[in-house]
Amino acid sequence: MLRKSSTIVFLSLLFFINLLITIESIAADKTKKKLEPLPLPPIPKNNPMTPEKIELGKKLFFDRRLSGDGTTSCASCHDPEKAFTDASEISLSYPTTRNFRNAPTLINVAYAKYLFWDGRAKSLEEQAEFPIMSPFEMNQNLDFVEEEIRVVPEYRESFKKIFGKDVNIKLIAQAIAAFERTLISKNAPIDRYLRGDKNALSDEAKKGLEVFTGKGKCIECHYGAYLSDNKFHALHVPENPKYANETKFIVTRRYVAKINKYPDYVNVREDLGRYFKTREKRDYKAFKTPTLREVAKTAPYMHNGIFKSLDEVIDFFNKGGGEGNKALKPLNLTDYEKKALKTFLIEALSGEEIKIKPPDIP
Ligand code: HEC
Ligand code: HEC
Repeated sequence: MLRKSSTIVFLSLLFFINLLITIESIAADKTKKKLEPLPLPPIPKNNPMTPEKIELGKKLFFDRRLSGDGTTSCASCHDPEKAFTDASEISLSYPTTRNFRNAPTLINVAYAKYLFWDGRAKSLEEQAEFPIMSPFEMNQNLDFVEEEIRVVPEYRESFKKIFGKDVNIKLIAQAIAAFERTLISKNAPIDRYLRGDKNALSDEAKKGLEVFTGKGKCIECHYGAYLSDNKFHALHVPENPKYANETKFIVTRRYVAKINKYPDYVNVREDLGRYFKTREKRDYKAFKTPTLREVAKTAPYMHNGIFKSLDEVIDFFNKGGGEGNKALKPLNLTDYEKKALKTFLIEALSGEEIKIKPPDIP
């Protein structure tokens, strides 16, 4: 009797161990993170791309009418000559005000699931209205800008032809979004490599790729075709000390906290990132994982532009991120591993230059 039950126990134990191993290997397969070549970007069904719409979107992207005082277009802060950034630590702003974050590149933004460092917009169509009405960016009134665009005969005709409708702010945003979806990395060595051309990367870049996916653990968050998990992490990047006591910067940060209904907005001393919006503990000081495609061209880095070079970024990760963070651990990379990682980021992830000629504005 005793023997029989112990056999049963033994057998069921075996069964469970087996089951565990199977479950684990399925899970491991599913969560195995890897880099992928860029597919065609997803295009929302309610905003199909046509050459005419893209051309209209490009004009609006460069049109300074979108700002309250007529000085600023989207291209002012997302300049095609600067890889669609403004190359500043803290982005440019509406005159007399101060921005409080770094302007990300728009190259490959078609692949992003959330927009902004704190992910407060979910589509490019939704996103475009934010900078237009933001008092520290374009400071324009949405009803007013509609009339400013409508009054231009060429624009009015284009909207009729493309949308079968008269000008309105939603259609303005749709056209701009269609243009943004054309800004895609072309022929980057990483894509050629992943599609099978083993000569697309130098030996040092291949070593860097090994560090990226192995000892460096970069792949934990920067994976897939977009090299981002489209999630938010609190790496505790230090506050940029240059702006700590700048009145206009403080005003903007308070304003952002306030419109997000953050109760103690008057006393915020730091950029709390996604927490301003969600008030979820896990979002405290969390920012979106940015894409690393074209990263060689998009310095300075991080949500507040605190790092001037990729060396500084790599050192930050190597020492395990910012004070008190729980997302990262020290990596102990050798000098050669750091160098190879940098070579990978620069060489593998840079596509051909995207040349956009500023259009004639009607
Ligand atoms: C005055 C500078 C400025 C202007 C003008 C500006 N932006 Fe931006 N843009 C920024 C900054 C700064 C951010 C990041 C802000 C944040 O995350 O809180 C940003 C973020 C974005 C993002 C999100 C990118 C990502 O990866 O999450 C998109 C898309 C974008 N801008 C498009 C536009 C469009 C379209 C216009 C014109 C309608 C425009 N921007 C005008 C500075 C500017
Ligand atoms: C735990 C997730 C995570 C890991 C692991 C990680 N990153 Fe990041 N990375 C992020 C987030 C989040 C940001 C933005 C942080 C911020 O601005 O506060 C970022 C920012 C960056 C930037 C700046 C990009 C820009 O446009 O400003 C670079 C470069 C970068 N990471 C490279 C790396 C490298 C190289 C590794 C491996 C050594 C790595 N990352 C590991 C999440 C991660």
